[in-house]
Amino acid sequence: MEKSIANHLRRCVRAAASRSRVPYSGRPRAALALMSDGRWMCGVRIENASYPLVIPSLSAVLASANSIGRQDITAIVFSDRIKLEEKTMIQQSFTGSMEQLADDILGHSGSITAPSDELIIGRHFPDKLDTAAGIRLARQATRHAYTPESDFPVGALVVTHDQMCYQGVNVEHGDWTQMLCAERAAIAAAVSAGEANIQYIYLSCPNAPATATPCGACRQVLFEIAPEAILWMDRGEQTAESFRISGLLPMAFSL
Ligand code: THU
Repeated sequence: MEKSIANHLRRCVRAAASRSRVPYSGRPRAALALMSDGRWMCGVRIENASYPLVIPSLSAVLASANSIGRQDITAIVFSDRIKLEEKTMIQQSFTGSMEQLADDILGHSGSITAPSDELIIGRHFPDKLDTAAGIRLARQATRHAYTPESDFPVGALVVTHDQMCYQGVNVEHGDWTQMLCAERAAIAAAVSAGEANIQYIYLSCPNAPATATPCGACRQVLFEIAPEAILWMDRGEQTAESFRISGLLPMAFSL
C-alpha cells in the first residue's frame, strides 16, 4: 500500500477511535475496512460492565459491513498496532487471508483501491417511522444474515431520536465465540457511527416469530447502551410486541 494512502487511512481510523465507548479501560480503539470501490467504514471498541461482552473494534466493523451486505473488504487499518488475536480473527472471517502490510495494516496487497469517501451505513428515514415500518426494515435486513450453523436468521434495526436507522444481522462462522447477534451488530454499527441517542430497536426472527426474544448477552449490552429504548419484537402475523430495555433485564449487572 502506498505510503500516502496508508497515512490517509490512519488519520481516518484514528479520528474514528474517539467514538469508542471505553469507560472501563480508557483505551480507545478503532478498525477501518477499505472496500473494493475505495469506500471505507470504521468500527469502534464498545465495552460493557461485563468485560467479556466487549465488542472489539474489528468485530464492530466486520459486523457492520456484513449487515449491509458488504463483504468486499480489501484492507483493514487499525488505530494502533494490530494484535495477534485480530490477525487470527481476520483469517477466520469472510475476508480470507490478508498479508501484513504494516504494523497496523492487513490487506490483499494486489487489490487495494485508493480510498474515496466514507461509507455511511446509517440511513435517514424521511417519513415518520411507525412500528410497521420499523418491523418491515428489520425483516428486510435478515436477507443479509448468514446462518450455515443454525439456520436461524435474525435482523435488527436500531433507530435514533432523529430517525437514523442502523441495521444488524447475525453472520455465523466457525468460531461461535466470536459471533455477534443481530442486535449487537446493529448496536455496533450505530455506536461506531457516533450515535448516542437510541430510541427504538426492532427485531425480527422469521423462523420463530411467535416466541423469539433477545438473548441475555444482548440484553446486557442493550441495557448499557440504551436502557430507556423501546424494543419492538416482530410477531409475524400477530401484532408486534414492545418492551422497555431496562425492563428486559431486572437486576442488570453494573460496575
Ligand atoms: N441470535 C441473534 O442474532 N439474536 C438473539 O437474540 C439470539 C440469537 C443468533 C445468533 C446465532 O447466529 C443464532 O441466532 C442462533 O443462536
